[in-house]
Amino acid sequence: MLKKVFGSAVFGVEATTVTVEVNTDKGVGYHLVGLPDNAIKESNFRIAAALQNNGYRIPGKKIIINMSPADLRKEGSAYDLTLAIGILASSDQIKAEDLEKYLIMGELSLDGSLQPIKGALPIAVKAREEGYKGFILPSQNAKEAAIVNDLEVYGVDNIRQVIDYFDKGEVLEQTIIDTRKEFEKNLNYPEFDFSDVKGQEGIKRCMEIAAAGGHNIILIGPPGAGKTMLAKRLPSILPPMTLHEALETTKIHSVVGRVKDTGLIAQRPFRSPHHTISNVALVGGGSYPQPGEISLSHNGVLFLDELPEFKREVLEVMRQPLEDREVTISRAKFTVTYPSSFMLVASMNPSPGGYFNDPDAPVTSSPAEMQRYLSKISGPLLDRIDIHIEVTPVPFDKLSDDRKGETSVEIRKRVTKAREIQTKRFEESETVHYNAQMNTKQIRKHCVLDEGSKALLKTAMERLNLSARAYDRILKVSRTIADLEGAEAVNGSHISEAIQYRSLDREGWLG
Ligand SMILES: Nc1ncnc2c1ncn2[C@@H]1O[C@H](COP(=O)(O)OP(=O)(O)OP(=O)(O)O)[C@@H](O)[C@H]1O
Ligand SMILES: [Mg+2]
Repeated sequence: MLKKVFGSAVFGVEATTVTVEVNTDKGVGYHLVGLPDNAIKESNFRIAAALQNNGYRIPGKKIIINMSPADLRKEGSAYDLTLAIGILASSDQIKAEDLEKYLIMGELSLDGSLQPIKGALPIAVKAREEGYKGFILPSQNAKEAAIVNDLEVYGVDNIRQVIDYFDKGEVLEQTIIDTRKEFEKNLNYPEFDFSDVKGQEGIKRCMEIAAAGGHNIILIGPPGAGKTMLAKRLPSILPPMTLHEALETTKIHSVVGRVKDTGLIAQRPFRSPHHTISNVALVGGGSYPQPGEISLSHNGVLFLDELPEFKREVLEVMRQPLEDREVTISRAKFTVTYPSSFMLVASMNPSPGGYFNDPDAPVTSSPAEMQRYLSKISGPLLDRIDIHIEVTPVPFDKLSDDRKGETSVEIRKRVTKAREIQTKRFEESETVHYNAQMNTKQIRKHCVLDEGSKALLKTAMERLNLSARAYDRILKVSRTIADLEGAEAVNGSHISEAIQYRSLDREGWLG
């Protein structure tokens, strides 16, 4: 008898429904067709054991399973449950009246228990779009799928429960989540707070500007100056995520199977990969493409601590996604795209020994060593970082000062206000939401300078020998400074402050 069951395949952050047709007939043999990969081909062993251990079996007949669309590559073990239920229905071992109303997925263990799948959220989104009644999946993924409303989500621990549901009409417990409430409940902030940082008023100001305009920032300073400490506190002053952003970020984390019990991710991600990271782990890829750290940081912060320690080519592959805010991975038969709109925060010592032009430095580096060290971070990468700032250690009397600095909550209020101005400014645009994202045309429109400011910027550009890209960066940062002040127009004082945040151009470190 021919029966149909439904599963789903995830490409990038979108899912496509996969139809599984199972036909059981006289004869012998087990044939699986429709571009399945090895993990799926091996599924019959897992399915056979799981069924047997629950009192069922793969019948000794001719079984043909066709997975379509045929040109879509299907991978992984998440179709075990789909196939198993299809075989049971097709061989009349269970009743299956409503089978076609559900999406059924899960990896089987030999005893019939279920292992979690990847991509439950995008699959659920698609299932709702296509009008399925419900989604049956491993209980570990139920919360993540239930973020989608108007789709019945049933988390199960064992194939037995699915069999009894279809065959005996036993009830499955539905996972119901009020997405809005869940979002508000998860809208927490990290425990690190700017009030822990003593002194460093100038750096805190810089980080406030960076947060307000979504600007990439690099902190340069000797060991122990507090760079790592400061960077870790950046998420605490970013404006709260919107529900839309939370859904986007959760989708990506769902694709790598990292959502599970957290449900909706409503806290901006802060990812801090080690400098030994590979290209693929950073930007994504692999023969079965998976998103990398830059996509897992989507709508949050990617922190590259000790930037020059990263392999040069690793930093090079990041350049394009930094500009495009998404990464496209091409394979012979398909391409996938992952969003990657993140704030880059980097830190570095000014030299391999850790110091620069410091007569009291305990370690000094030769000019050749310095050159080699700095050449790792190419000019074009640095050009994509709007704010460069030097961090000098705070003197002892400030460190031992008991007074608490301004809290992250207070800073965040100003940041959020400045962001609101930007949201309004760009409300017509689909792709641009804050100042750092402005293209050249928008910069010309929103950063109009009077004659005095123009002259000031021109002199600075010439004296510091800045590139055209640096010019745009300065204008964008000036716009953010003006927004923090609530100023309509960018003026000379905004420009002069923004020029100060190009340390690496000024010092001529990179020749
Ligand atoms: N302004 C500060 N206020 C309070 N504590 C500070 C401050 N600056 C540094 N510290 C203390 O010094 C420690 C070292 O700082 P941190 O690790 O952030 O330095 P770093 O600049 O990242 O150094 P490295 O280059 O060695 O990585 C911090 O954990 C913190 O305890
Ligand atoms: Mg550090």
